[in-house]
Amino acid sequence: MDFQFTEEQLAVQAAARDFAQSELWAGVIERDEHQKFPAEQIKKMGELGFMGMMVSPEYGGGGMDTVSYVLAMEEISKVDASCSVIMSVNNSLVCWGLEKYGTEEQKQKYLPRLTSGEIIGAFCLSEPEAGSDATMQRTTAEDMGDHYLLNGTKNWITNGSTASVYLVIAQTNPELKHRGINALIVEKDTPGFVVGLKENKLGIRGSDTHSLMFTDVKVPKENRIGEDGFGFKFAMHVLAGGRIGIAAQALGIASGAFELALKYSKERKAFGVEISKHQAIQFKLADMATNIDAARLLCLQAAQDKDNHVDYAKSGAMAKLFASKVAMETTVEAVQVHGGYGFVKEFHVERFMRDAKITQIYEGTSEIQKIVISRELLK
Ligand code: CAA
Repeated sequence: MDFQFTEEQLAVQAAARDFAQSELWAGVIERDEHQKFPAEQIKKMGELGFMGMMVSPEYGGGGMDTVSYVLAMEEISKVDASCSVIMSVNNSLVCWGLEKYGTEEQKQKYLPRLTSGEIIGAFCLSEPEAGSDATMQRTTAEDMGDHYLLNGTKNWITNGSTASVYLVIAQTNPELKHRGINALIVEKDTPGFVVGLKENKLGIRGSDTHSLMFTDVKVPKENRIGEDGFGFKFAMHVLAGGRIGIAAQALGIASGAFELALKYSKERKAFGVEISKHQAIQFKLADMATNIDAARLLCLQAAQDKDNHVDYAKSGAMAKLFASKVAMETTVEAVQVHGGYGFVKEFHVERFMRDAKITQIYEGTSEIQKIVISRELLK
């Protein structure tokens, strides 16, 4: 593995850090408290090229590699994980999926607006009874000749009300099981498509998460992604890359909380000295930093595998599994280092702790990552 970043990768990292530090801190507590979608911030992120980083310039993207994407995701997540999940879904799931498997018409139609931040996208796989067991799709896409008739409900959809383009996974031929599933592009204003209530979440509260209802929604055949029956494989491929983005998000949450804990430990005094002079705190800081560095290496390994066209299902799942654990542990410790201050909102670490939890759940729980890893090992 080459640990030397290129000048371009370093420039992307610096730009993301600069943007996050100067534009995301302001209002982050209020956005979290009031579940306020970061509309202005996402628009700016689109203008700066963070919403379609890996898409080819031909479709308005940045043409960057996955390593650059990981570096940017970490920096944005160090301040506001709500912004980074919106960014991650748009980049890894929607834009990447469309560019890799979409038709030329689909790419031309959607990618330039998705990459510029003019619109955002959503990825709709989870259902009331199909989260981890993704083959159990109850949403149906009945083949009506020139179109599909979409019926069903999706749950916990990131960008649920703010998206304009939805990639919806649905069952067309139940007898074919996962080989009968399709992925369809559904536009927001299509008749019969209703956005349900917004979820009141523990963390990433600035992002909007909704259930979606489809009742006899007519989706033209040209909106199908890939061949008939490719939908489940499409979802698996897209999620394999998405996990690298969420691993980088978890890494950023951990490093953001760590940086605050480190700073606080040098300011706060107890028993006559800064608390950083106490070994109890030093040990915590050492553990946090070691785990974060290890998580970063796994994230970069997975990103590099993807950039080198090496199978990244295992390395991406390992990165997500480990980084999300580190995010959870580090943020809990960051609250502990802050003592009573850590328990109040002004000091940010309680928000990082709440945000960390979702990284062990979405785009496959930690248990699902272990299934993916062990399957690769046992192949
Ligand atoms: N890449 C490509 N193909 C894959 C694959 C991968 N990583 N994993 C499985 N497949 C293929 C298999 O090869 C198989 O194809 P064939 O039958 O044609 O050979 C097919 O998919 C079915 O495979 P399995 O029998 O192994 O499937 P399974 O039912 O046992 O489940 C699973 C596999 C990995 C557990 C899968 O169901 C899974 O990933 N579940 C978690 C889903 C998930 O991440 N949900 C999160 C929702 S999205 C989200 O959270 C977004 C957000 O808001 C941020």
